[in-house]
Amino acid sequence: MPYKVPFVDYPCQYRNLKQELDAAFTGIMSGGNFILREHVRRFEDNVASFLGVKHAVGLNSGTDALLLSLLALGIGRGDEVITVAHTFLATVGAIVNCGATPVLIDVSAADHNMDISQLEAAITKRTKAIIPVHLNGRICDMDPLMAIARKHRLLVVEDAAQALGASYNGKKAGSFGDTSCYSFYPAKILGTAGDGGMLTTNDDTTAEKVRALRDNGRVMGQDEVVGYGFNSRLDNLHAALLDVKFKHVPRWIERRRQIAARYQKGLAGISQLRLPPPPENGKYYDAYQNYVIRSSERDRLVKYLKDSGVEILVSWPIPMNRQKALNLSHFRLPETERISAEVLSLPMYPELADDKVDYVIDVLHNFHRK
Ligand SMILES: Cc1ncc(COP(=O)(O)O)c(C=O)c1O
Repeated sequence: MPYKVPFVDYPCQYRNLKQELDAAFTGIMSGGNFILREHVRRFEDNVASFLGVKHAVGLNSGTDALLLSLLALGIGRGDEVITVAHTFLATVGAIVNCGATPVLIDVSAADHNMDISQLEAAITKRTKAIIPVHLNGRICDMDPLMAIARKHRLLVVEDAAQALGASYNGKKAGSFGDTSCYSFYPAKILGTAGDGGMLTTNDDTTAEKVRALRDNGRVMGQDEVVGYGFNSRLDNLHAALLDVKFKHVPRWIERRRQIAARYQKGLAGISQLRLPPPPENGKYYDAYQNYVIRSSERDRLVKYLKDSGVEILVSWPIPMNRQKALNLSHFRLPETERISAEVLSLPMYPELADDKVDYVIDVLHNFHRK
């Protein structure tokens, strides 16, 4: 049975943009321009100017944006890269897949992002880079992080897969690091009809390297390749669909923030729940990729919500250092482990109507009244 309140409502978004999306689809199909043609370039230019960065390179996923970042920045065997375990697998996977060693530090209870107070102690002679993950649409505390990176001459790769349009002291996610990585997975703030991603940078050489790496080492207009690479390109069809949606992103984020404020107000009286930090207009402009709450009765609450017709997600139930296959159990991350046992994400998407938000709030009140 379909949920009364789905986690994300893809068909609803399609219905709202049907004319424009259908026209983009028809344009690509009838023009026959599928790979690295003008739609990709146009979308890249639009993203670059939105973020205020020099280069945006369209890729097949956020996963490859992370991997190609590390490869283009020359990170590999013998190097250490510091990041967190409370993230999607791809962040740590990229470090391992480029041949480097992940060093995992804990996150803060306040916003579930990297605990910057632990950063310096994790730096060794082999450390080459830091990957801050801007989780759930909130940017990491970038001023102290960048100060430490500068002091120790470390590269910074932002994992901004969940933070398109978020900002920190007026600067957008993706404009701090040597590179930044975005995901256009369907459920993201800007999602396509499948997979897609983007890498941004202000450095000409890095951009050139990534453009070659995404296309099997080829450089447009040249017979000679510059090395081995991958097939990591963003397709024209995705670029065209994403470009249609992209202009709605600022309005969508405003709506996400309204929904977050409604949850915040409606749930404030439930003392058993821990809510995310409130929407702040000063230092942080949160994009609310996810609205994440914490409960010590998480698993029972999840079942109750699902039984009441509310689709929820748990990201992530097993912290990366507890995934046996990943061999990361030597990292002791108490806050990460507590968070993994307690978090759940409530429905959050711009088309979510107020009465559905109120229904979710009511279900949560009912659970805690029992
Ligand atoms: C924090 C984070 N990093 C990286 C990724 C990987 O992006 P993709 O699914 O586009 O490969 C995701 C998306 O799921 C993510 O949430």
